[in-house]
Amino acid sequence: MPGIPDPPFPAPDSPFPAPSATAAAPGASRRGVLVGGALALGAAALGTLTATEARADTAPRGGSSMSDPFTLGVASGDPLPDSVILWTRLAPDPLAEDGLGGMPDKPVDVQWQLAADERFRDVVASGTVRARPDRAHSVHVEAGGLRPGAQYFYRFRAEGEISPVGRTKTAPAPGSRLDSFAFAFASCQSYTHGHYTAQAHLAEEDLDLVAFLGDYIYETGEAGEIGRPHAPARETESLADYRIRHAQYKTDTDLQAAHAAFPWAVVFDDHEVENNWADDTSYEDDVPPEEFLRRRARAFQAYHEHMPLRSAQRPDRSDMRLYRRLSFGGLLDVHLLDTRQYRSVQAGDDRRDDPSRTLLGAEQKRWLFDGLDASAARWNVLAQQVFFSQRDFADGPPADFSDDAWDDYRVERDEVRDRLAEAPGPVVITGDVHANYVCDIKADFGDPDSATVATELVGTSFTSGRDGAEQNPGDAVQLQENPHIKFINRRRGYVRNTVTPTEWTAVYRTLDYVSEPGSPIHDRARFTIEAGTPGVRPQP
Ligand SMILES: [Fe+2]
Repeated sequence: MPGIPDPPFPAPDSPFPAPSATAAAPGASRRGVLVGGALALGAAALGTLTATEARADTAPRGGSSMSDPFTLGVASGDPLPDSVILWTRLAPDPLAEDGLGGMPDKPVDVQWQLAADERFRDVVASGTVRARPDRAHSVHVEAGGLRPGAQYFYRFRAEGEISPVGRTKTAPAPGSRLDSFAFAFASCQSYTHGHYTAQAHLAEEDLDLVAFLGDYIYETGEAGEIGRPHAPARETESLADYRIRHAQYKTDTDLQAAHAAFPWAVVFDDHEVENNWADDTSYEDDVPPEEFLRRRARAFQAYHEHMPLRSAQRPDRSDMRLYRRLSFGGLLDVHLLDTRQYRSVQAGDDRRDDPSRTLLGAEQKRWLFDGLDASAARWNVLAQQVFFSQRDFADGPPADFSDDAWDDYRVERDEVRDRLAEAPGPVVITGDVHANYVCDIKADFGDPDSATVATELVGTSFTSGRDGAEQNPGDAVQLQENPHIKFINRRRGYVRNTVTPTEWTAVYRTLDYVSEPGSPIHDRARFTIEAGTPGVRPQP
């Protein structure tokens, strides 16, 4: 990296060496445990350990020593053909009341290495960055000059300790022919509602990317019923509150394993700030906009501090440029949207068809349409938060719709649908509703015989909503009233997608339970989309 001096890092041919002369022989010291933890994460990602074994091996990391600063693991994200973001945060005492993670109120140098091999014999980039207390000692390294479509391994060193090893991958070269791309999408990981079994299974997949579609944390002060109460035990309001909440989620070693295994592309939804917020307006509290914006700024700051995001996404007070595009060869353009920050306030039945109402805001919409028009990829994906297709909940004439989803912004929904339909391979991926759905996006949702112009894949939650069920009693009405909805399932899990130039295969993977650890995972349903033919076909 230009301008960054070479660090005094361990020699590349001595993998995971003791960081100081005081460390005992490997295996006999805490260093041995940490090394084991790091290797266990890598091994779990490679599928050589079960999720439970990986969890057991990494369990001591969380709080066995006040001096280990890497209690929150490592992460990478937003891969480009020549660079990727590497993330960690120093927090020897992650839940410390002041939100500073047990770190002193001064900058700390952090060294990083990125290598072509897991044992760091072939280090291709390295440097030193300064972790600052005003950013909660978070570290965001923009590792550049990398090869496209290449796998790398990375680690950090600070305060004499070495972090677990993460694995990441750059995007393929622009326009390059790509035979296959594998990615999962997921959302909604309430810590109090469930164990992170899905994340442990996710870590064992073979993926190029994970897209996380929002509700990474929940703002509530609830304790839950499974021994995973929220810290702090109050609704998050202050910057320290949001930092502690993010840190608590990141202490989960199953989540750490999923981050360490693949690059993630993250967007927030509402609960990273507050339930159902819209632009400058609180949904829950009757507070002036300027007061809500101050809270939003604190939430955004903590969010960026804890996510593998680029500096372009660093918030400027209450503003954060979250929407952005990632491209994977000539195969896939992923348009990551922000359906919170610029939306009109939820209005309900009287104003669903008001053409002045917006979910994206004018600037983001223009950016999206420009990107769709310019796309030369085989597939165009809107990676976004709230339900896109029409969902009429009422038995009988259409009468009952969600106020927080695209159904409350119908004119803009139809406009976006029509522009998306003109782009190659139009697919919408969605979170928010804690349920799996598959929808054919219709040219006219009121006419089942109208053309299918795009496809929506809605992914269930990792944990939110607790154990879930196959279906709810009301789902039969939804399927009857909305013939474009082809599938509903309310188990927990994630969706794994394999995308080729001719076909998209989505596998809905579900768990039996999250109230206790250890659920197996099942391929609950499988759908394919043929390139050039929008809409899904169920597969046996
Ligand atoms: Fe959620």
